[in-house]
Amino acid sequence: MKITENCPLKGRNTFGMDVTARCLIDYSCPEDLQALAGELQQPVLVMGGGSNLLFMDDFKGTILHSLIEGIEIAGESDDSVYVRVGSGVTWDDFVAYAVLKGWWGIENLSAIPGDVGAGAVQNIGAYGVEIKDVIETVQTVSLEDGTCRDFSMEECEYAYRQSIFKNSLKGRYAVTYVIFRLGLKPCPKLGYGALRQAVEDPTLKNIRSAVIAIRNSKLPDPQVLGNAGSFFMNPVVPESDFERIREMYPDVPSYPAGEGMVKVPAGWMIEKAGWKGRSLGPARCYEKQALVLVNTGGATGADIRRLADTITADVRNLFGITLSTEVNYI
Ligand code: EPU
Repeated sequence: MKITENCPLKGRNTFGMDVTARCLIDYSCPEDLQALAGELQQPVLVMGGGSNLLFMDDFKGTILHSLIEGIEIAGESDDSVYVRVGSGVTWDDFVAYAVLKGWWGIENLSAIPGDVGAGAVQNIGAYGVEIKDVIETVQTVSLEDGTCRDFSMEECEYAYRQSIFKNSLKGRYAVTYVIFRLGLKPCPKLGYGALRQAVEDPTLKNIRSAVIAIRNSKLPDPQVLGNAGSFFMNPVVPESDFERIREMYPDVPSYPAGEGMVKVPAGWMIEKAGWKGRSLGPARCYEKQALVLVNTGGATGADIRRLADTITADVRNLFGITLSTEVNYI
């Protein structure tokens, strides 16, 4: 375990915000968390790769960051393998490993930044797959009393970019390991049009390469241009609202989202509102994917938020729909 007081966070958040944490603790095993439980200076933030948050200011409490490593087989059946992965493992290292081993289920989630533990909290998703589709169990330690608790996939209350760990149990448990159930038999998921077109022979390797190529063509590299992927969620709206939009714009893209509901891509709405490629001070709406806000250099959390709020207001004026952020303001 490593404890750093007044820890600089610039290299630990993909927006590149130049802020500090009062205390940052890198933990290496569940026992580290058990030793700290109940003693942490509040507020407590459990952070992964810092790829989905926006620091508005210095953080006055304790940040916990997992260094728990390891990818091990925890069981096998005829068609599945159960794999236990440390919460501090870089998500894409695990995807690369699974592809190498011939394990199916996470290849569509290639190249998503962040760690395994944060991925399970955020329910990361892309190209028709969400991490919850392959999660069996999330193993945690209570930050209040140090007890270990395993959550089944159902108990995690997963929804679109949501879980119990972001809602009713926010800040109360830290993830130590995640157990995944991956397929041993080919099971390509090519429902997403652009992916289907890019993959001729659907091997694990080819799907992974195609996903990486599509992502690279649309999403900025945080090493070059600070960002946190999609800044907003795609809103799910009643069919009546969607019909109103379609009357204005017959070409509006959409996805079914359950009984009487439709998911409308926020990136498309932001583009129609005229924001794609436009800047407000040092914050910019990315020119290749309007759902991404970028730090063009020296932006503060307030700069990014001003752009986000302005975009939200313009989208509301044009479509009558209020966007919610996927990125968490801290
Ligand atoms: N679109 C536009 N203009 C834009 C951006 C998108 O018209 O500037 C249109 C596209 O043409 C397409 C539709 O909107 O018809 C959807 O765009 P895209 O396929 O790029 O995906 P998205 O809905 O914008 C979501 C996820 C991404 C994920 C992709 C692919 C959310 C908030 N975002 O984006 O996830 O990679 O689908 O599955 O659900 C992330 O969460 O950080 C992330 C990158």
